[in-house]
Amino acid sequence: MNKLKVGIIGSGFIGEAHIEAIRRLNFVEVAALSEHDEKTAKKRAEELNISKYYGDYKELINDDNIDVIHNCTPNFLHFQINKEVINSGKHIFSEKPLAVNSTQTKELLEIAEKNHLYHGVNFNYRHYPLVKEMKQKVKNELGRLFHLRGSYLQDWMLFEDDYSWRVDPKQGGKSRAVADIGSHFCDLLQYLTDKRIKRLTAKTKIVHPERQKPAAEIKTFAQAGEDKKYEQVEVKTEDYASVLFEMEDGTAGNFTVSQVDAGHKNDLFIEISGSKKSLSWSQENANQLFIGHRDQANQILSRDPSLLSSEAAERCYYPGGHIEGWSEGLKNSIKDFYNCILAAGDPADYDFATFADGALEVKITEAILKSSREEKWVEV
Ligand SMILES: NC(=O)c1ccc[n+]([C@@H]2O[C@H](COP(=O)([O-])OP(=O)(O)OC[C@H]3O[C@@H](n4cnc5c(N)ncnc54)[C@H](O)[C@@H]3O)[C@@H](O)[C@H]2O)c1
Repeated sequence: MNKLKVGIIGSGFIGEAHIEAIRRLNFVEVAALSEHDEKTAKKRAEELNISKYYGDYKELINDDNIDVIHNCTPNFLHFQINKEVINSGKHIFSEKPLAVNSTQTKELLEIAEKNHLYHGVNFNYRHYPLVKEMKQKVKNELGRLFHLRGSYLQDWMLFEDDYSWRVDPKQGGKSRAVADIGSHFCDLLQYLTDKRIKRLTAKTKIVHPERQKPAAEIKTFAQAGEDKKYEQVEVKTEDYASVLFEMEDGTAGNFTVSQVDAGHKNDLFIEISGSKKSLSWSQENANQLFIGHRDQANQILSRDPSLLSSEAAERCYYPGGHIEGWSEGLKNSIKDFYNCILAAGDPADYDFATFADGALEVKITEAILKSSREEKWVEV
Protein backbone atom coordinates (compact mmCIF):
# COMPACT_ATOMS: atom_id res chain seq x y z
CA MET A 1 0.00 0.00 0.00
CA ASN A 2 1.32 3.47 -0.88
CA LYS A 3 1.67 5.52 2.25
CA LEU A 4 -0.13 8.87 2.41
CA LYS A 5 2.48 11.64 2.11
CA VAL A 6 2.35 14.47 4.59
CA GLY A 7 3.90 17.95 4.61
CA ILE A 8 4.42 19.80 7.88
CA ILE A 9 4.39 23.61 7.95
CA GLY A 10 6.16 24.87 11.08
CA SER A 11 8.50 22.64 13.04
CA GLY A 12 8.50 24.25 16.49
CA PHE A 13 7.20 22.62 19.67
CA ILE A 14 4.03 21.12 18.20
CA GLY A 15 5.29 20.61 14.64
CA GLU A 16 8.02 18.31 15.92
CA ALA A 17 5.47 16.46 18.07
CA HIS A 18 3.23 15.94 14.99
CA ILE A 19 6.20 14.50 13.09
CA GLU A 20 6.96 12.06 15.89
CA ALA A 21 3.27 11.05 16.19
CA ILE A 22 2.92 10.51 12.42
CA ARG A 23 6.02 8.34 12.43
CA ARG A 24 4.43 6.13 15.05
CA LEU A 25 1.59 5.39 12.58
CA ASN A 26 2.99 3.03 10.01
CA PHE A 27 0.65 4.01 7.21
CA VAL A 28 1.55 7.71 6.78
CA GLU A 29 4.89 9.24 5.80
CA VAL A 30 6.34 12.64 6.68
CA ALA A 31 7.61 13.62 3.23
CA ALA A 32 8.52 17.32 3.58
CA LEU A 33 8.57 20.28 5.94
CA SER A 34 8.61 24.02 5.51
CA GLU A 35 9.88 26.72 7.83
CA HIS A 36 9.90 30.51 7.82
CA ASP A 37 13.13 30.62 5.82
CA GLU A 38 15.37 28.33 3.80
CA LYS A 39 18.17 28.14 6.37
CA THR A 40 15.84 27.09 9.21
CA ALA A 41 14.02 24.64 6.94
CA LYS A 42 17.30 22.95 5.96
CA LYS A 43 18.50 22.80 9.57
CA ARG A 44 15.21 21.37 10.87
CA ALA A 45 14.96 18.86 7.99
CA GLU A 46 18.44 17.59 8.88
CA GLU A 47 17.70 17.43 12.59
CA LEU A 48 14.41 15.61 12.00
CA ASN A 49 15.67 13.42 9.14
CA ILE A 50 13.17 14.67 6.54
CA SER A 51 14.40 14.46 2.95
CA LYS A 52 12.57 17.45 1.44
CA TYR A 53 12.33 20.97 2.81
CA TYR A 54 11.05 24.36 1.70
CA GLY A 55 11.83 27.88 2.93
CA ASP A 56 8.41 29.03 1.73
CA TYR A 57 5.20 27.20 2.68
CA LYS A 58 3.67 28.00 -0.74
CA GLU A 59 6.20 25.68 -2.38
CA LEU A 60 5.22 22.86 -0.04
CA ILE A 61 1.54 23.45 -0.80
CA ASN A 62 2.33 23.26 -4.54
CA ASP A 63 4.27 19.98 -4.19
CA ASP A 64 2.18 17.44 -6.12
CA ASN A 65 3.61 14.53 -4.13
CA ILE A 66 2.02 15.73 -0.90
CA ASP A 67 -1.48 14.48 -0.02
CA VAL A 68 -2.12 16.10 3.36
CA ILE A 69 -0.74 19.18 5.13
CA HIS A 70 -0.40 19.85 8.85
CA ASN A 71 -0.43 23.53 9.77
CA CYS A 72 1.72 23.93 12.90
CA THR A 73 2.52 27.64 12.60
CA PRO A 74 1.67 30.50 15.00
CA ASN A 75 -2.02 31.45 15.14
CA PHE A 76 -1.94 34.48 12.79
CA LEU A 77 -0.85 32.23 9.92
CA HIS A 78 -3.58 29.63 10.35
CA PHE A 79 -6.22 31.34 8.19
CA GLN A 80 -4.01 32.16 5.22
CA ILE A 81 -2.19 28.82 5.15
CA ASN A 82 -5.33 26.70 5.76
CA LYS A 83 -7.09 28.60 2.96
CA GLU A 84 -4.24 28.08 0.49
CA VAL A 85 -4.03 24.38 1.37
CA ILE A 86 -7.76 23.92 0.77
CA ASN A 87 -7.59 25.83 -2.51
CA SER A 88 -4.77 23.50 -3.62
CA GLY A 89 -7.10 20.49 -3.13
CA LYS A 90 -5.11 18.91 -0.30
CA HIS A 91 -6.54 17.65 2.97
CA ILE A 92 -5.70 19.80 6.00
CA PHE A 93 -4.99 19.11 9.66
CA SER A 94 -4.64 22.44 11.47
CA GLU A 95 -3.44 23.35 14.88
CA LYS A 96 -5.86 25.22 17.09
CA PRO A 97 -7.16 27.87 17.20
CA LEU A 98 -8.50 27.28 13.67
CA ALA A 99 -8.05 31.02 12.96
CA VAL A 100 -8.09 34.25 14.97
CA ASN A 101 -11.70 35.33 14.36
CA SER A 102 -15.03 33.83 13.37
CA THR A 103 -15.22 35.58 9.99
CA GLN A 104 -12.10 33.65 9.04
CA THR A 105 -13.26 30.33 10.50
CA LYS A 106 -16.61 30.61 8.69
CA GLU A 107 -14.83 31.06 5.37
CA LEU A 108 -12.45 28.15 6.04
CA LEU A 109 -15.30 25.80 6.92
CA GLU A 110 -17.27 26.83 3.84
CA ILE A 111 -14.43 26.31 1.36
CA ALA A 112 -13.30 23.03 2.95
CA GLU A 113 -16.83 21.62 2.68
CA LYS A 114 -17.33 22.97 -0.83
CA ASN A 115 -14.10 21.30 -1.99
CA HIS A 116 -15.02 17.99 -0.27
CA LEU A 117 -11.75 17.83 1.61
CA TYR A 118 -11.01 16.26 4.97
CA HIS A 119 -10.39 18.94 7.57
CA GLY A 120 -9.26 18.37 11.14
CA VAL A 121 -8.26 20.53 14.12
CA ASN A 122 -5.89 19.20 16.72
CA PHE A 123 -8.03 19.09 19.84
CA ASN A 124 -5.89 16.25 21.09
CA TYR A 125 -7.33 15.92 24.61
CA ARG A 126 -10.39 14.14 23.18
CA HIS A 127 -8.21 11.20 22.29
CA TYR A 128 -7.02 9.72 25.59
CA PRO A 129 -8.38 6.23 26.39
CA LEU A 130 -9.94 7.29 29.69
CA VAL A 131 -11.57 10.30 28.05
CA LYS A 132 -13.31 7.91 25.65
CA GLU A 133 -14.31 5.74 28.64
CA MET A 134 -15.59 8.83 30.44
CA LYS A 135 -17.66 9.85 27.39
CA GLN A 136 -19.38 6.47 27.34
CA LYS A 137 -20.05 6.62 31.05
CA VAL A 138 -21.50 10.13 30.74
CA LYS A 139 -23.93 8.76 28.15
CA ASN A 140 -24.80 5.44 29.79
CA GLU A 141 -24.21 5.63 33.56
CA LEU A 142 -24.18 9.20 34.86
CA GLY A 143 -27.94 9.73 34.96
CA ARG A 144 -29.30 13.25 34.58
CA LEU A 145 -26.58 15.84 34.01
CA PHE A 146 -26.31 18.13 37.07
CA HIS A 147 -23.27 20.32 36.57
CA LEU A 148 -19.87 20.67 34.89
CA ARG A 149 -16.67 22.18 36.17
CA GLY A 150 -12.98 22.28 35.55
CA SER A 151 -9.84 24.23 34.92
CA TYR A 152 -6.84 24.41 32.66
CA LEU A 153 -3.91 25.89 34.52
CA GLN A 154 -0.30 26.47 33.47
CA ASP A 155 2.54 28.55 34.90
CA TRP A 156 4.90 29.13 31.99
CA MET A 157 3.83 32.82 31.72
CA LEU A 158 4.02 33.48 35.49
CA PHE A 159 6.88 35.99 35.52
CA GLU A 160 7.00 39.39 33.91
CA ASP A 161 9.94 38.33 31.78
CA ASP A 162 8.14 35.24 30.42
CA TYR A 163 7.33 35.90 26.78
CA SER A 164 5.98 34.10 23.70
CA TRP A 165 4.66 35.25 20.30
CA ARG A 166 1.24 34.45 21.85
CA VAL A 167 1.46 37.70 23.89
CA ASP A 168 1.40 39.81 20.71
CA PRO A 169 -2.18 40.09 19.32
CA LYS A 170 -0.75 40.44 15.81
CA GLN A 171 0.65 36.92 16.07
CA GLY A 172 -1.53 35.18 18.64
CA GLY A 173 -4.86 36.94 18.11
CA LYS A 174 -6.90 39.05 20.56
CA SER A 175 -7.13 36.23 23.11
CA ARG A 176 -4.22 34.34 24.70
CA ALA A 177 -5.06 32.03 27.64
CA VAL A 178 -8.62 31.41 26.41
CA ALA A 179 -7.74 30.79 22.75
CA ASP A 180 -4.68 28.77 23.65
CA ILE A 181 -5.93 26.47 26.42
CA GLY A 182 -9.52 27.49 27.17
CA SER A 183 -10.37 26.25 23.66
CA HIS A 184 -9.08 22.79 24.63
CA PHE A 185 -11.20 22.77 27.79
CA CYS A 186 -14.39 23.82 25.97
CA ASP A 187 -13.80 21.32 23.19
CA LEU A 188 -13.31 18.53 25.72
CA LEU A 189 -16.42 19.54 27.64
CA GLN A 190 -18.58 19.60 24.52
CA TYR A 191 -17.09 16.35 23.21
CA LEU A 192 -17.75 14.55 26.51
CA THR A 193 -21.31 15.76 26.91
CA ASP A 194 -22.33 15.95 23.24
CA LYS A 195 -23.82 19.33 24.09
CA ARG A 196 -22.83 22.87 23.23
CA ILE A 197 -22.09 25.84 25.44
CA LYS A 198 -24.98 28.21 24.73
CA ARG A 199 -24.34 31.30 26.83
CA LEU A 200 -21.76 32.52 29.29
CA THR A 201 -20.46 35.29 31.50
CA ALA A 202 -16.75 35.76 32.04
CA LYS A 203 -14.02 37.77 33.67
CA THR A 204 -10.59 37.93 32.03
CA LYS A 205 -7.50 39.40 33.64
CA ILE A 206 -4.06 40.59 32.62
CA VAL A 207 -1.74 40.16 35.60
CA HIS A 208 1.30 41.84 34.01
CA PRO A 209 0.31 45.02 32.15
CA GLU A 210 3.83 44.99 30.68
CA ARG A 211 6.18 42.13 29.86
CA GLN A 212 9.83 41.98 28.93
CA LYS A 213 10.12 40.72 25.38
CA PRO A 214 13.48 39.08 24.64
CA ALA A 215 15.40 40.43 21.65
CA ALA A 216 15.59 36.89 20.22
CA GLU A 217 12.47 34.69 19.82
CA ILE A 218 12.23 31.79 22.25
CA LYS A 219 10.51 28.44 21.77
CA THR A 220 7.19 27.61 23.45
CA PHE A 221 7.62 26.68 27.15
CA ALA A 222 11.34 27.59 26.96
CA GLN A 223 12.97 30.29 29.10
CA ALA A 224 15.17 33.11 27.89
CA GLY A 225 18.92 32.50 28.31
CA GLU A 226 21.39 34.19 30.69
CA ASP A 227 22.41 36.98 28.30
CA LYS A 228 18.90 38.42 28.31
CA LYS A 229 18.29 41.52 26.19
CA TYR A 230 14.75 42.83 26.58
CA GLU A 231 12.27 45.28 25.19
CA GLN A 232 9.45 46.41 27.55
CA VAL A 233 6.08 45.82 25.81
CA GLU A 234 2.46 46.48 26.75
CA VAL A 235 0.34 43.32 27.24
CA LYS A 236 -3.12 43.29 25.65
CA THR A 237 -3.99 39.59 25.91
CA GLU A 238 -5.38 37.86 29.01
CA ASP A 239 -3.34 35.69 31.37
CA TYR A 240 -6.42 34.37 33.14
CA ALA A 241 -10.17 33.88 32.67
CA SER A 242 -13.00 32.61 34.83
CA VAL A 243 -16.19 31.59 33.04
CA LEU A 244 -19.70 30.71 34.19
CA PHE A 245 -21.67 29.01 31.41
CA GLU A 246 -24.90 27.30 30.48
CA MET A 247 -25.19 24.42 28.00
CA GLU A 248 -27.95 24.10 25.39
CA ASP A 249 -29.95 21.83 27.75
CA GLY A 250 -29.67 24.32 30.62
CA THR A 251 -26.92 22.45 32.52
CA ALA A 252 -24.69 24.98 34.26
CA GLY A 253 -20.97 24.91 34.81
CA ASN A 254 -17.82 26.92 35.33
CA PHE A 255 -14.14 26.82 34.48
CA THR A 256 -10.94 28.75 35.01
CA VAL A 257 -8.01 29.02 32.64
CA SER A 258 -4.68 30.52 33.53
CA GLN A 259 -1.11 30.63 32.27
CA VAL A 260 0.13 32.19 35.51
CA ASP A 261 -0.69 29.63 38.26
CA ALA A 262 2.59 28.60 39.89
CA GLY A 263 3.20 24.88 40.00
CA HIS A 264 0.57 23.97 37.42
CA LYS A 265 2.30 22.81 34.25
CA ASN A 266 -0.33 21.39 31.91
CA ASP A 267 -3.07 20.91 34.46
CA LEU A 268 -6.30 20.24 32.58
CA PHE A 269 -9.00 18.95 34.93
CA ILE A 270 -12.64 18.21 34.18
CA GLU A 271 -15.51 16.94 36.35
CA ILE A 272 -19.01 16.00 35.26
CA SER A 273 -21.63 15.38 37.93
CA GLY A 274 -24.93 13.61 37.41
CA SER A 275 -27.83 12.15 39.36
CA LYS A 276 -26.15 8.72 39.75
CA LYS A 277 -22.40 9.44 39.95
CA SER A 278 -19.68 11.94 39.16
CA LEU A 279 -16.70 11.43 36.88
CA SER A 280 -13.45 13.33 36.79
CA TRP A 281 -10.23 13.16 34.83
CA SER A 282 -7.00 15.10 34.90
CA GLN A 283 -4.47 15.35 32.05
CA GLU A 284 -1.54 15.19 34.47
CA ASN A 285 -2.92 11.97 35.93
CA ALA A 286 -4.20 10.67 32.61
CA ASN A 287 -4.05 6.97 33.50
CA GLN A 288 -6.79 7.22 36.11
CA LEU A 289 -10.51 8.03 35.95
CA PHE A 290 -12.24 8.98 39.21
CA ILE A 291 -15.78 7.64 39.64
CA GLY A 292 -17.58 9.21 42.58
CA HIS A 293 -20.53 7.56 44.37
CA ARG A 294 -22.91 8.65 47.12
CA ASP A 295 -23.88 5.18 48.45
CA GLN A 296 -20.78 3.06 47.88
CA ALA A 297 -17.02 3.49 47.95
CA ASN A 298 -15.58 5.74 45.23
CA GLN A 299 -13.63 4.05 42.45
CA ILE A 300 -10.44 4.73 40.51
CA LEU A 301 -10.43 3.08 37.10
CA SER A 302 -6.87 2.62 35.82
CA ARG A 303 -5.94 2.73 32.16
CA ASP A 304 -5.66 -1.00 31.58
CA PRO A 305 -6.94 -2.10 28.15
CA SER A 306 -8.25 -5.33 29.63
CA LEU A 307 -10.57 -3.33 31.93
CA LEU A 308 -11.85 -0.80 29.40
CA SER A 309 -14.55 -0.80 26.73
CA SER A 310 -13.23 -1.89 23.33
CA GLU A 311 -13.47 1.70 21.98
CA ALA A 312 -11.31 3.03 24.84
CA ALA A 313 -8.95 0.02 24.77
CA GLU A 314 -8.26 0.73 21.06
CA ARG A 315 -6.60 3.95 22.16
CA CYS A 316 -4.10 2.17 24.41
CA TYR A 317 -0.75 0.86 23.14
CA TYR A 318 0.67 -0.83 26.23
CA PRO A 319 -0.72 -2.91 29.10
CA GLY A 320 -1.90 -1.33 32.35
CA GLY A 321 0.84 0.22 34.47
CA HIS A 322 2.91 1.09 31.38
CA ILE A 323 2.11 4.75 31.68
CA GLU A 324 0.80 6.55 28.58
CA GLY A 325 -0.07 10.19 28.21
CA TRP A 326 0.24 13.31 26.12
CA SER A 327 2.18 11.81 23.22
CA GLU A 328 -0.28 8.90 22.85
CA GLY A 329 -3.22 11.35 22.95
CA LEU A 330 -1.62 13.29 20.09
CA LYS A 331 -0.91 10.08 18.19
CA ASN A 332 -4.56 9.03 18.58
CA SER A 333 -5.80 12.45 17.42
CA ILE A 334 -3.75 12.23 14.20
CA LYS A 335 -4.48 8.50 13.73
CA ASP A 336 -8.24 9.05 13.92
CA PHE A 337 -8.00 11.72 11.19
CA TYR A 338 -5.99 9.42 8.88
CA ASN A 339 -8.21 6.41 9.58
CA CYS A 340 -11.12 8.49 8.32
CA ILE A 341 -9.27 9.60 5.17
CA LEU A 342 -8.10 6.06 4.36
CA ALA A 343 -11.60 4.63 4.81
CA ALA A 344 -13.08 7.54 2.80
CA GLY A 345 -15.25 7.76 5.90
CA ASP A 346 -17.73 10.27 7.27
CA PRO A 347 -16.04 12.45 9.97
CA ALA A 348 -19.26 12.22 11.98
CA ASP A 349 -18.38 8.55 12.64
CA TYR A 350 -14.94 9.49 14.04
CA ASP A 351 -13.78 11.41 17.08
CA PHE A 352 -11.40 14.01 15.62
CA ALA A 353 -12.41 17.66 15.74
CA THR A 354 -13.29 19.19 12.36
CA PHE A 355 -13.23 22.80 11.17
CA ALA A 356 -16.84 23.03 12.44
CA ASP A 357 -15.58 22.30 15.98
CA GLY A 358 -12.66 24.70 15.45
CA ALA A 359 -15.05 27.42 14.33
CA LEU A 360 -17.25 26.85 17.37
CA GLU A 361 -14.28 27.25 19.74
CA VAL A 362 -13.39 30.60 18.17
CA LYS A 363 -17.00 31.76 18.72
CA ILE A 364 -16.77 30.75 22.38
CA THR A 365 -13.48 32.64 22.73
CA GLU A 366 -15.06 35.75 21.20
CA ALA A 367 -18.07 35.44 23.53
CA ILE A 368 -15.73 35.23 26.57
CA LEU A 369 -13.84 38.38 25.56
CA LYS A 370 -17.10 40.22 24.85
CA SER A 371 -18.68 39.18 28.13
CA SER A 372 -15.68 40.34 30.14
CA ARG A 373 -15.45 43.62 28.24
CA GLU A 374 -19.17 44.43 28.51
CA GLU A 375 -19.69 42.80 31.94
CA LYS A 376 -22.79 40.84 30.87
CA TRP A 377 -24.07 37.40 29.78
CA VAL A 378 -23.40 36.69 26.10
CA GLU A 379 -24.98 34.14 23.73
CA VAL A 380 -22.37 32.06 21.86
N1 LIG B 1 -2.80 21.01 20.40
C1 LIG B 1 -1.89 21.33 21.30
O1 LIG B 1 -1.83 20.75 22.37
C2 LIG B 1 -0.90 22.43 21.01
C3 LIG B 1 0.26 22.58 21.79
C4 LIG B 1 1.15 23.60 21.45
C5 LIG B 1 0.88 24.46 20.40
N2 LIG B 1 -0.26 24.31 19.69
C6 LIG B 1 -0.57 25.24 18.55
O2 LIG B 1 0.42 25.04 17.55
C7 LIG B 1 0.77 26.27 16.93
C8 LIG B 1 2.29 26.44 17.01
O3 LIG B 1 2.65 26.52 18.38
P1 LIG B 1 4.12 26.10 18.89
O4 LIG B 1 4.02 26.07 20.35
O5 LIG B 1 4.61 24.92 18.17
O6 LIG B 1 4.95 27.39 18.45
P2 LIG B 1 6.49 27.48 18.14
O7 LIG B 1 6.83 28.93 18.18
O8 LIG B 1 7.25 26.53 18.99
O9 LIG B 1 6.59 26.94 16.63
C9 LIG B 1 6.06 27.64 15.52
C10 LIG B 1 6.90 27.27 14.30
O10 LIG B 1 6.34 27.83 13.13
C11 LIG B 1 7.40 28.33 12.34
N3 LIG B 1 6.93 29.33 11.39
C12 LIG B 1 6.67 30.65 11.62
N4 LIG B 1 6.30 31.25 10.47
C13 LIG B 1 6.34 30.30 9.50
C14 LIG B 1 6.07 30.31 8.08
N5 LIG B 1 5.72 31.43 7.44
N6 LIG B 1 6.23 29.15 7.39
C15 LIG B 1 6.60 28.01 8.02
N7 LIG B 1 6.87 27.96 9.34
C16 LIG B 1 6.74 29.08 10.08
C17 LIG B 1 8.37 28.89 13.36
O11 LIG B 1 9.67 29.11 12.80
C18 LIG B 1 8.34 27.79 14.41
O12 LIG B 1 9.23 26.75 14.12
C19 LIG B 1 -0.03 27.34 17.66
O13 LIG B 1 -1.12 27.72 16.88
C20 LIG B 1 -0.50 26.68 18.95
O14 LIG B 1 -1.77 27.14 19.38
C21 LIG B 1 -1.15 23.32 19.97
